[in-house]
Amino acid sequence: MTIAGQREDAATADVTAELPANFLWGVATSAYQIEGAAAEDGRTPSIWDTFARVPGAVHLGEHGDVACDHYHRMPQDVELIRSLGVDSYRFSVSWPRVQPGGRGPVNAAGVGFYDRLVDELLAAGVAPWVTLYHWDLPQELEDAGGWPERDTAHRFAEYAGLVHDALGDRVRTWTTLNEPWCSAVLGYDQGLHAPGRTNFPDAMRAVHHLLLGHGLAGQALRAAASADFELGITLNMATAYPASDAARDVDAARRADGLSTRIYLDPLVHGHYPEDVVRDIAERGAVLPVRDGDLEIISTPLDVLGVNYYSSHVHAGGDAPHEDRIVESGLPVTAMGWDIVPQGFTDLLVRLSRDYPGLPMVITENGAAFEDSADADGFVDDVPRVEYIADHIRAVGSAVAAGADVRGYFAWSLMDNFEWAYGYDKRFGIVRVDYETQTRTPKRSALWYRDTIRASREER
Ligand code: FCB
Repeated sequence: MTIAGQREDAATADVTAELPANFLWGVATSAYQIEGAAAEDGRTPSIWDTFARVPGAVHLGEHGDVACDHYHRMPQDVELIRSLGVDSYRFSVSWPRVQPGGRGPVNAAGVGFYDRLVDELLAAGVAPWVTLYHWDLPQELEDAGGWPERDTAHRFAEYAGLVHDALGDRVRTWTTLNEPWCSAVLGYDQGLHAPGRTNFPDAMRAVHHLLLGHGLAGQALRAAASADFELGITLNMATAYPASDAARDVDAARRADGLSTRIYLDPLVHGHYPEDVVRDIAERGAVLPVRDGDLEIISTPLDVLGVNYYSSHVHAGGDAPHEDRIVESGLPVTAMGWDIVPQGFTDLLVRLSRDYPGLPMVITENGAAFEDSADADGFVDDVPRVEYIADHIRAVGSAVAAGADVRGYFAWSLMDNFEWAYGYDKRFGIVRVDYETQTRTPKRSALWYRDTIRASREER
């Protein structure tokens, strides 16, 4: 089967027509990707500080020591966010800044930064949307075994409580984890992300402990919170299309979906792991280390599901067991080489609303890297990014029209930043960052996004 491309003239089509009233608009970032100030005010190294020093791990050996220097430029960055007219800003809290070493008391200087950020946002009329874990595990906890160890889940819940003690009076929406698939699979199986391990059974242990950490933190936060509290988790997902009706292609798509989506959402929403996935991973020598009571903790009720979407794939099986080959789709790609598949976004959202009903969704990330070129003033006329975002917002609208409960959209990313293993080579920002001068210049996509948000409000 092939997947349909969608390309219309972004400038003329009304991309927001099918979105509900009070739709939430935002921009997103994460701590290690923008903050810099890696060794300031008591922050200790995270697994990303360590991994970035491993020769060959990150493009050109780049790291987040300075990044966008957001730690020192936060008030101006909040002003930039305000100028875009968004309702909300999704940022993450750096665990080793708030609780150096991952154990012990809160670091007042570290949490003070987020305290000021929240106040600054509220004063600008922008709602803070907190992510507690966007991949920066304190190095000491990795040295003690990392996410494959059960204790890390308990450490995470404790850290979550410290952040909530500081910000819970002003922050309504709390996302525990960003993309646990990346933490577990890219970090512990494929070795492409920190901590760079390559052990599939460890990665599956990490999956369970990440989910357990989510549940423990969620329960602790809800117990401490006022009525005005929302618990969420953010998953990266895609539609897995089979290359044909042949059994082995259908099975390859089933396995891909199982390991990326159902292994997370089934326990979170339905309170059990999918049997086929448990069987698949057992054939690969892995076990989910579930203890009595864990699934009840993991399925603590969610208020919102964060959906991160970038691309979808066509899957083909092979002769070897568990073979999953990604078939060339022939669709246009971004600078990451990722196929541009807005139809996969619609299909995903409709399918999620069918399989996990009653769970409101917010798009917590969507966006694209392209080969930007800036003019003498630093302006980037990024028409491909405008088209990508427009097509994907329209795809959300199609899902809403088909009955999906989607309540918001955050563009990834507010500004160019440290793109993990790609270093500063790939630019996802709607605002350009000149890393020499730290000048921020809104790209055409930022201006288009601002105008689209404004127009969508006027229509209602
Ligand atoms: C997501 C990450 C985010 C960013 C985008 C491009 O997987 O959550 O930090 O790197 O991809």
